[in-house]
Amino acid sequence: MFAPDLLKSRSVLITGGGTGLGKAMGRRFLELGAELMICGRREAVLAATAQEFEAAFGRPVRIHRVDLRHAEAVDALMDMAFRDRPLDILVNNAAANFVARTETLSNRAVDTILGITLHGTVYATLAAGRRWIAAGNAGTVLSILTGAAFHGSPYAVPSAMAKAGVLAMTRSLAVEWGPKRIRLVAISPGNFPTPGASERLVPDDVRPGEYGTNNPLGRPGQPEELGDLAAFLVSDHAAYINGEAVIIDGGRWLKGAGTFSALERLSEEQWARMRERGRGERE
Ligand code: HXC
Repeated sequence: MFAPDLLKSRSVLITGGGTGLGKAMGRRFLELGAELMICGRREAVLAATAQEFEAAFGRPVRIHRVDLRHAEAVDALMDMAFRDRPLDILVNNAAANFVARTETLSNRAVDTILGITLHGTVYATLAAGRRWIAAGNAGTVLSILTGAAFHGSPYAVPSAMAKAGVLAMTRSLAVEWGPKRIRLVAISPGNFPTPGASERLVPDDVRPGEYGTNNPLGRPGQPEELGDLAAFLVSDHAAYINGEAVIIDGGRWLKGAGTFSALERLSEEQWARMRERGRGERE
């Protein structure tokens, strides 16, 4: 499936593609033949990533500085993305998040998270979609969610709200734009540690190696695993997948919801006692 020409000559734009999971997806797409453009707020970060990729793959990587909170700036970004040829694939990866007690958030803090994660994603999707529809071109939009889109998240409420909105956008436009050959899909990653997220979102007293292990597989996700799923979903192999959000979390969500999930720590002795209790009173 992951033949080296899987994404050959596909034009891809990844928002927030200079660092973290956006960068990991960009690397995988380049390995599979894509033409890559990345955007973000910090030009130096984008330039360093582009240089690294160009050295590794010998192909140009375009960069564009943008703050997704501003719709006009996003429109200018799309002008660049469609300048030489139509964009094929948009990856909505950029997001912002604070971990905080919700009642302490200022209105501006809420606006910041919603502005980047929800509004920025919608601006980018509409700007690409309008261009695809006007030209009669096909397109694919892949948006990155989190489990919070489905089950919410204490201490990250604006982020959860924004991601839930992106999920609703994915499902809604999958139906509205499907007839126009525009496909929308999403990925909901569990714990994939990146330097940025670990630094800002993981409390100090979480021991190294412990973060991301609260799932049945007992380990965090590898960026390459996310890259493979993203490559599959934007490729023609997934041409009939539309409006779907794929969870890649090692089963974390299911474990968190299960009544008996915490019983994994029971000893043999405790299990024996449970068995006796479960048998109840006998004649
Ligand atoms: C509470 C905070 C805060 C914090 C900032 N603010 N940090 N409030 N807790 N930790 C408030 C500020 O006081 C200010 O409000 C307002 O938010 C805007 O802050 P600025 O610093 O001016 O904003 P800005 O420079 O635009 O940068 C904000 C940012 C930045 C974009 C979020 O922190 C950033 O670049 N983060 C990296 C991107 C990121 O977050 N990636 C992680 C995505 S992970 P006042 O009222 O004081 O002016 C992810 C996983 C989701 O999405 C998991 C969900 C469960």
